[in-house]
Amino acid sequence: MDKKLITSILDSRKTKNSITYKDFKLNPSDLLLSWGKNKKFVIRTYGCQANVRDSEIIRGFLLKIGMVESDTFNDADFILFNTCAVRENAENHLYGELGLAKKRVRTNKDLIVAICGCVMQETKPVKFILDHFKFVKIIFGTSNIPSFYSLLEAAIKDDIVAIDLENNFDQVFEGKEDLNLSRFSKVVAYTNIMYGCDKFCSYCIVPYTRGKERSRRKEEIINEVECLKRLGYKQVTLLGQNVDSYGKDFKSSYTFASLLEDVAKTGIERIRFTTPYPSDFDEETFKVMKKYDNIMPSVHMPLQSGSNAVLKKMNRRYTKEEYLELIDKLKKHIPDVAITTDIIVGFPSEKDKDFNETLEVVKKVKFDQAFTFIYSPREDTPASKLKNASSKEEIKNRFNILKKLVDDIAEEKASELVGKTCKVLFETVSKKNKDYYSGYSEKGKLVHVRGKSDLIGSIKKVKIIESHTYSLIGELENE
Ligand code: SAH
Ligand code: SF4
Ligand code: F3S
Repeated sequence: MDKKLITSILDSRKTKNSITYKDFKLNPSDLLLSWGKNKKFVIRTYGCQANVRDSEIIRGFLLKIGMVESDTFNDADFILFNTCAVRENAENHLYGELGLAKKRVRTNKDLIVAICGCVMQETKPVKFILDHFKFVKIIFGTSNIPSFYSLLEAAIKDDIVAIDLENNFDQVFEGKEDLNLSRFSKVVAYTNIMYGCDKFCSYCIVPYTRGKERSRRKEEIINEVECLKRLGYKQVTLLGQNVDSYGKDFKSSYTFASLLEDVAKTGIERIRFTTPYPSDFDEETFKVMKKYDNIMPSVHMPLQSGSNAVLKKMNRRYTKEEYLELIDKLKKHIPDVAITTDIIVGFPSEKDKDFNETLEVVKKVKFDQAFTFIYSPREDTPASKLKNASSKEEIKNRFNILKKLVDDIAEEKASELVGKTCKVLFETVSKKNKDYYSGYSEKGKLVHVRGKSDLIGSIKKVKIIESHTYSLIGELENE
């Protein structure tokens, strides 16, 4: 494919309206099987769980051709960057890493560097990479994962840049075979229930990089969860940019609440989901959450701002009063629910008065954790054309004030847990101290416990003995 053709594809990415379901089943060619044997691959993933899940699927492709996973570029034969475009710093990070990959090209001329993910859905960065990082051999978008084997084969055989950036935002790729079950963890798993986003919050690039909302068929989802359970997985997290829009594209009465109930009935030990959109999150779902013990009592519900004027400019479809009412309703059904959120500071129209309203909501709700972001203008989004009402210093100052408030609340809530007992699902050995194992409580709190490796994959009663802002230290209770 020459560069002219690439440019014309980039300029004409279109999506059809109706959604089709395609088979994901793919088998590697003999050439890939002999090329891949014992070669080393590295995958670097940025961004949200949607990207993590995509990386897992591609990892499955690589393992299937006999490749071995590595975590250093030094011995790599294949490096994949799965990129995120949600904020500028995520994008800049990619260019730094590409610089490091370039060093490896000097010692391994056959190294294949591939880039996929949300940044590849934007025209400018793709052109920039083609111009400045000429060693990159494969480029594909968020809806081109099924082309992976063809792209890899083309890159091995020919001296070309193998590119697939055609938007398949009208398609859902389904598959029941082992590749789709490839996961980083043997204990906890992500399962996509839908792709894309139709909300078009004015600051956000995701609807452009992930395309329109499309739900997977319920049979595929339930089948996947049942497979995970059979394989010994203890937890599934249902993924979608707005999970409560699940099934709206089918125009049927089978909603997110119906799906959640059917997933709960599979009997898998723990179920989580992310992300619900506040104005679509409904009591039906709260009732299902209350009815089934295997649905965890924790909810991540992005607030973004506590000012109605800013929410409106953000094109968020709720007011702060509605958000607070929703939390009251949720707490009526599940009184001890943990609530986490996302907040953006420095949206263009935000003034001190708006920011103070955000602080008030944070004080009222007392979030268990809040992820705070400084607004980052994204090209071609409506908000990027708005004028800034505040200076950079004012925004940085607000960010620090909010961060301190959020941390203080989290610390206070964590300290209340000392002396209490919770059930922890252990996932990994602790990163800081190899004598400790780490997992999450039902409410999603990170807990470290001294123990042995057989803890991984088990759910144990733990007494909390020490608290930090975002983690707890515990002891196993005698059972
Ligand atoms: N679908 C989810 C999350 C999407 S992105 C939702 O609707 O909540 C994750 C978070 O990144 C968002 O919740 C938002 O807080 C933040 N974010 C998105 N675009 C941003 C931007 N341009 N600048 C700063 N933060 C942004
Ligand atoms: Fe972005 Fe809004 Fe969609 Fe979330 S709901 S992905 S913030 S556009
Ligand atoms: Fe980033 Fe794309 Fe997710 S922009 S946050 S990786 S959907």
